[in-house]
Amino acid sequence: MTGGPDTGGYTERGTPRVSIAPMMDWTDRHYRYFIRHLTRRTLLYTEMVTTGAIIHGDRDRFLAFDPLEHPVALQIGGDTADDVARSVEIAEEYGYDEYNLNVGCPSDKVQEGNFGACLMATPDRVAEITAAMREVTDRPVSVKQRIGIDGRESYEEMLEFVDTVAASGVERFTVHARIAILAGLSPKQNRTIPPIRYEDVYRLKRERPQLEIGINGQIRTVDDVRSHLAHVDTVMVGRAAYEQPWLFATVDEELFGDEPAATTREQVVEALFPYMDYLDRTGQPPRRMINHLLGLFAGRPGARRWKQALSGRLPAAPGREILRTARDAVPEEIRQES
Ligand SMILES: Cc1cc2nc3c(=O)[nH]c(=O)nc-3n(C[C@H](O)[C@H](O)[C@H](O)COP(=O)(O)O)c2cc1C
Repeated sequence: MTGGPDTGGYTERGTPRVSIAPMMDWTDRHYRYFIRHLTRRTLLYTEMVTTGAIIHGDRDRFLAFDPLEHPVALQIGGDTADDVARSVEIAEEYGYDEYNLNVGCPSDKVQEGNFGACLMATPDRVAEITAAMREVTDRPVSVKQRIGIDGRESYEEMLEFVDTVAASGVERFTVHARIAILAGLSPKQNRTIPPIRYEDVYRLKRERPQLEIGINGQIRTVDDVRSHLAHVDTVMVGRAAYEQPWLFATVDEELFGDEPAATTREQVVEALFPYMDYLDRTGQPPRRMINHLLGLFAGRPGARRWKQALSGRLPAAPGREILRTARDAVPEEIRQES
């Protein structure tokens, strides 16, 4: 047994045992602010931010976040040691808790940039990048990867990749437990079609017990999280955290032994009114937050009316009004359910 609730929700190195995955357009700062009203302990990942955006773009736009979001890990997409290290240096001013290199994204655009999952073919290059990252920060440096890519699909090749990168000093790896097929599948297909291989990730933890090994892919309930923690150090949840965020309302209590951040969905909604005001005041469209709230009542009576109310309003309506209308569309007893 390497993990589990009896160890207090953190690994020996202090890493939260549960995290929410980096997801483009989904895990932006607005979503992270929202989910913090459901769980204070879970480690949150940013969307992938490319080195080009960090070095040449509007830094505050890509890197600023609310202190409430801690602990938060920045995921970087890049392919040269210099650019990635420079990006970490810049991001250090914002106070991230961890830096993560994306070695798992299979999109064509990312492949053109020669980063993401295609880096799995060049472990030496990844090790060069992670060594450079470690030189510019004292924060943990981690890698999010696949089991492999087409042509490099075996457990042994994954082990070689991990060993090479670990030699640069990286101690944290999260493995999306399937390969990425770079030729011919879209990113979405690459999250469903290649078969899940949890056993390979468990084996990696058994054979490299000194490393912190995390698992990701198709994990959808707190019971699933618990059962994986019997085999690996950490569990990363992606789509389920977005589609059914209420899932995370029990995590602080069940895994970290802490008070829950909220006991009812009503409390979460109430806490977001000032945020809607902040968006209005700063001239940001309410949709930035509203879109992330669609799943809050997933699976409960009233879920449909909630979604309709959030989706249906004129874009010009103030955020507070949209949220109030949606709240009132859900029966009181459902809002108060714990
Ligand atoms: C909309 C969306 C965007 C994603 N963007 C990223 C990303 O920016 N970086 C990354 O490493 N993975 C990204 N992923 C993959 C997820 O991090 C995760 O590995 C994948 O969804 C499998 O986990 P799940 O089955 O729990 O969803 C994305 C997934 C989704 C659904």
